[in-house]
Amino acid sequence: MRTKFCVANWKMHKTVKEALAFLQDFIPLVDEINDREIGIAPTFVCLESIGNALKDTNIKLCAQNVFYEKKGAYTGEISPIMLKDLNVEYVIIGHSERRKYFYETDEIINRKIKACIDEKLNVIFCIGETIEERQSNKTFDVLKRQIEKGLENINNPDALVLAYEPVWAIGTGMVASQAQIEEAHAFIRSQLKELYYEKADMIRILYGGSVTPENIYSIMNTENVDGVLVGGASLDPVKFARIVRYEEQRRNE
Ligand code: PGA
Repeated sequence: MRTKFCVANWKMHKTVKEALAFLQDFIPLVDEINDREIGIAPTFVCLESIGNALKDTNIKLCAQNVFYEKKGAYTGEISPIMLKDLNVEYVIIGHSERRKYFYETDEIINRKIKACIDEKLNVIFCIGETIEERQSNKTFDVLKRQIEKGLENINNPDALVLAYEPVWAIGTGMVASQAQIEEAHAFIRSQLKELYYEKADMIRILYGGSVTPENIYSIMNTENVDGVLVGGASLDPVKFARIVRYEEQRRNE
C-alpha cells in the first residue's frame, strides 16, 4: 500500500509572517486527517519557524533544494546536514525550474539525491518533458534518461518519491490529461521496476503541473498516481486543504 502524499511547493513565495498566517488557517482544515501524508516546502528562510509551527501536527516539513556537499566554501548553499538539523523530512530535487534557471544537470541532481539519502533525508525527485520534447515524441526517452542518470548508483529506493511534472503543465493552467498522466506514470513505474524490481511497487509517483481543487479528484483517481506536488494552488490555505481532501472534490468536476 502506498500512502497518498500531497506536497505544497511554495517556490519563492511568502515571508515568514505570511507563511505563519497560512498555517493558522490551514492546520485546522486538515488536522484530523491521518490516512495520507501532507508536506509543505517553504523557502529556506522560513524552514525554522515553519518547522516549529508544524511540530505536533500531521504536516511534514520539506525543502525545495539542497547542495550535495556536507560543508565548505560554497557561498549561498545549504547542506543536507543543515536541513536535517531543522527537522526537514523531504527535499525536492531536480525541479524543472532548477534545471532551467540554475542549469542543474542530471549529474548534479544525482549527486544531490545521493547526498540526501546518505543523511537519511527523503527525496522528491522531479522529472518531466518540455512541450518540444513531447511534440517530437521524445517524452519517454527524456523520462528514461532523467531516471537512469538521476538514480545512477542509488541502490536502495526506500527514501525515494518521484514526481512527474510535465514542464508545459507547470504554472500554465494546462493540466495534463488523465490519459497522459496514466501513460507517463505507468512508464515511470516500469523504469523503476528495471532498477529496483519488486521494491519499485513501494515508490510513490506524484503528479505535478496546474493541480487545482477542480481537477484533483480525477488526477488522484488515475492509476499509479500516489499524490501531487502543487505550486500555485498551494499558496492558498483553503485551496490546498481542498486538494488534500481530494475525495470531497468530486462535485466540482
Ligand atoms: P503549479 O506548479 O502547480 O503552479 O503548476 C507545480 C510545481 O512546479 O511543482
